[in-house]
Amino acid sequence: MESQVKSSVMDAIGDTPVVRLGRLFPGVDVVAKLEYMNPGGSIKDRMVRFMLQSLPAGTAHVVESSSGNTGAALAMASAVLGLRCDVTVPQTTSIEKIKRIRAYGAEVHLCAPEDGRDPAGGYQAVAERLAQGENIHYLDQYRSALNREAHYRDTGPELWRQVAGEVDVFVCGIGSGGTISGIGRYLKEQKPDVVVLGVEPRNSAYRKVVSDVSAEGPFVSVVEGVGKCQASRSFDPDVVDDVVQIADEDALEWCRRLAAEEGILAGGSSGCVAAGIAQLLPQLAGKRVATVFPDSGVYYLSKYF
Ligand SMILES: Cc1ncc(COP(=O)(O)O)c(C=O)c1O
Repeated sequence: MESQVKSSVMDAIGDTPVVRLGRLFPGVDVVAKLEYMNPGGSIKDRMVRFMLQSLPAGTAHVVESSSGNTGAALAMASAVLGLRCDVTVPQTTSIEKIKRIRAYGAEVHLCAPEDGRDPAGGYQAVAERLAQGENIHYLDQYRSALNREAHYRDTGPELWRQVAGEVDVFVCGIGSGGTISGIGRYLKEQKPDVVVLGVEPRNSAYRKVVSDVSAEGPFVSVVEGVGKCQASRSFDPDVVDDVVQIADEDALEWCRRLAAEEGILAGGSSGCVAAGIAQLLPQLAGKRVATVFPDSGVYYLSKYF
C-alpha cells in the first residue's frame, strides 16, 4: 500500500470533481468543475500555488489585492510557509471572506473607492503602496502573466483529462480574466473548435473588449469575483469568442437554485455563470458544455441566501 499523506495542505490543492448539472439543465449536457473543494475554498488556491513557485529568494512578506479568494489562498499559503501576509479587499467584500483571511493570520485592509484610481475600490493602489520595501512581494493577479499561465498549466489540463476531451463549449465567469484565458487557451489548443464564452455582470468591461458593444451605464454589482470597471491585463481577448452579461437578480436566483436543486452551494459568480448558460441554452443544444464554479456559497450566507 502506498502512503497518500500530503506533506502540507498546499499539496491538497486541485483534483476537484466535475459533476453534471442534470437537474437544472435537463436534456442538455452541462458539467461543472467544483473549485470550491480546494482547501482554501476557491480556484485561487491554484493560481497562488503557481505564483509562489516564482517567489523571489529572501521574500518574507507577501501582499495581494483581491476580491477575497486570492487573499484567502495567499493567507493559507503564508501560514504554511511562515510569511507575513497583507491583503487589500474592496469594502463591499462579504464578512465571511474577511474573517476567513484573518483566521489564517493575515492582515486585511478594507479599501474605499477614494483610496485609489479604481472606482470599484482602491484596493489595487493600496496594495501597491503596502508592497514598498525590502523582501516584500506583490503578486498582482490583475497584471501578472502568471495568473492565466497557472490555469493554462494546471486547471485546463485537469479539466480536459476529467472530461476525456469531450467539450464543445467552455463557459466561464470573468474577474481578473485569468481563469477563462488560461483554461480557454488550453482547451482551444487541444480542440480548435471549442467555443469559449465569458459571463459577467451587467455593464462590466469585458463584453466591450470582445464585441465592441458599449455599456449602458456605470458598472455596479453585488456579485463578488466577477466584473470589472476596466479590463484587467490578465484577460486575453484572443481566446474569448463572446461575452454575455447577466443582471444581479438573475445571478442570485441561479445561485440559490444551484443549492436548492443541484445540492451545489456555490458563490454568486457560479450563479452568474449558471444564469449565463440558461441564457445561452438555445445555442447549446447537442453540445457538451463545461464550466467552473470558483467558490462556495458558505462565504456569502449572510449576503445572498
Ligand atoms: C468567486 C470568484 N469567481 C470568479 C472569479 C473570476 O476568476 P478570474 O479572476 O480568474 O477571472 C473570481 C476571482 O477573483 C472569484 O473570486
